[in-house]
Amino acid sequence: MTERVIEVLAGTTGVVLAVADDGRLHQLGFGSGLAGRTPDFPVGIYPLAYPTFGEEPTREPALRITHADGATSTRLTFASAVVEAHEHGEVHRIALVDRVAPIGVDILLRTWPGYDLLETWVEVVNFGGEPVTLHEAAATAPAFAASSARLTHWGGGWAGEWSETTETLAHGTKVLASAGGVRPSLHLPPVVLLSPDGSATEESGSVGVCTLVWGGDARFAAEVAQHHQGRLIVGHQDRGAERHLDPDDRFETPHALWVWSEAGIGPTSRSLHRFAREQVVRGGTEIRATVANTWEAVGFALDDAGLAAQVDQAAAVGAELFLLDDGWFGSAHPRNDDTTSLGDWGVDRSKLPNGLQPLIDHTLAAGLRFGLWVEPEMVNPVSELYKAHPDWVIAESGRDRREERNQLVLDVLQPEVRRFAADVVSRVLADHPDISYLKWDANRDITEPGSTALAPDRQSHLPVDRVRATWDLMDDVARDHPDVELMLCASGGGRSDLGTLRWFHELWTSDNTDPVDRVRIQWGASHLLPASVVAAHVTHWGLRPVPFGCAVALSGRFGFDLDLVALSDEDRDVCAASAATYRRIRDLVQQGDLHRLASPVGTTRGAWAYRSADGDRAVVFAYRLPDDEPGNQVLALPWLAGKDLWAFDVEDLTPGRPSSAVAPLGAATLSWPDAAPPSASVWLITRR
Ligand code: GLA
Repeated sequence: MTERVIEVLAGTTGVVLAVADDGRLHQLGFGSGLAGRTPDFPVGIYPLAYPTFGEEPTREPALRITHADGATSTRLTFASAVVEAHEHGEVHRIALVDRVAPIGVDILLRTWPGYDLLETWVEVVNFGGEPVTLHEAAATAPAFAASSARLTHWGGGWAGEWSETTETLAHGTKVLASAGGVRPSLHLPPVVLLSPDGSATEESGSVGVCTLVWGGDARFAAEVAQHHQGRLIVGHQDRGAERHLDPDDRFETPHALWVWSEAGIGPTSRSLHRFAREQVVRGGTEIRATVANTWEAVGFALDDAGLAAQVDQAAAVGAELFLLDDGWFGSAHPRNDDTTSLGDWGVDRSKLPNGLQPLIDHTLAAGLRFGLWVEPEMVNPVSELYKAHPDWVIAESGRDRREERNQLVLDVLQPEVRRFAADVVSRVLADHPDISYLKWDANRDITEPGSTALAPDRQSHLPVDRVRATWDLMDDVARDHPDVELMLCASGGGRSDLGTLRWFHELWTSDNTDPVDRVRIQWGASHLLPASVVAAHVTHWGLRPVPFGCAVALSGRFGFDLDLVALSDEDRDVCAASAATYRRIRDLVQQGDLHRLASPVGTTRGAWAYRSADGDRAVVFAYRLPDDEPGNQVLALPWLAGKDLWAFDVEDLTPGRPSSAVAPLGAATLSWPDAAPPSASVWLITRR
């Protein structure tokens, strides 16, 4: 029999599969440089493309099913492969079937060659007459030769988002998983970097980035078996999430995205950023406004005069959007702290006697747009909503309702609850048509994961179905209010995934705004997210010098979150000058190509740059962090090597520094800041 080879190529990223004589599907290659790959050995020697429980008894499976007759092993054989075009590439559907049980498993691969990106997922269908139990179904499970393979991943919990770890994979299985269901990426954003031979740097080596497009818990299992056989199994967290497939049911796994590069990590990030901006994020190619938020400024202490004064100062420093955070609502119980009122979305008249409108009018008159904070998926037990509908929450009958941050999670699987949550937003916007921005927060995990919308024997569907119901809710809101910008937030960066971002314009990266920590947080986030969505606000966290805070915030989606009225004149001038600087550089920061120059992870210096697509302009950020010693002062700009450097000018835009003259660049290097750390430099490089 001639072996059937299936080649799926998306620019530098691809997979080549082949059907063995016995019908099993194997992987001939995964990664880059695969065009024309044919088997050098009998196909059966190559790793399985999608390993199942029972097939490779000593290896991790990607799929585990208990069949209707109780059998627990699955053996998949090839049935068919079809290719269809989509606007940006091709979609391959490779259909496999179990050798005995009436189960179909389709592997789907959508190519995005313009982004070197492969999107992949799996669909499991029960075409028998009895229910089956799907315990695990990964989105992707490529094999790789793991000679000193290294895996980079991030996480760290509230205020510790995006702490970076790179580790050499040892024999065995390393499992990384998020938890809690609502704000999983606080603990583990769903993205990893895999360097099979461990040699990848920013600019060289073979490396793949993989992200799960999923708003719930994710699971990455990196296995190294005998003879350096590696495999990365990526999917939604299956623990506690068994799926019962009734006859004709089809389960589609979350999708995974892969970008592979033979030229180091940099290209994987640039491709993902471009993909995110052009194909995922709402309005992703538009320029985002500079935001002044109230949370770190005044917290729950809201009053008309105080807020109007903040608006005036926000206008004075050059902010473009005033965001009223938590604390504005609670008709029956004033929300003076986080113990009451989620669910009661009327304006708290004890704080704002004439409602929001006077403040909105004042904001618009000052030339700013107005934004508002909501947390539509949550309820405080101390609320009118909970009094009326105690059964609207996620809970298990006869069990405690554990509170976190004094609140419970509304059960959006119940249609009337989902309608209520959508109406919360619609009512606020109908009452205040001048609101053009909402910050959508979600501040607790799920415990006692039960829903009255699911049958008793289907409760384990909640972790997946709740994510989909929440996405439906977000979709309703986005569709009903297409002109309202949405910021995604979950106790900071708890929802940093490219699935949920489809309904949002940007996200709150972390509640930790200490600019020293933010250098590392924003560095980490850049491995998945374009800077256009990485909201970075100047605050007083860490009590760092305001110019340093501005320099760090300028490298993301810039904004303020501090009491602008109480600022010293000197700091206010720095903020105003920084906002003006941002207007000059934000097209580069938000839409340019990221070049990482020096890693702040495990070091005391970090630097990166954003470059225009034509290479004519770039903005460079360099940060020296506490404990940094004066030392090597040379900061290399690799993309300028070999260029006519005298054709470029450089301008020092560092916040707090007297404005400098434009001077010829003359070298493909800059100098690290001289000032004692924490210190920063910001330069704009322009072709003359
Ligand atoms: C969460 C968010 C903060 C702020 C508060 C308000 O913690 O991450 O930015 O909005 O809620 O309660």
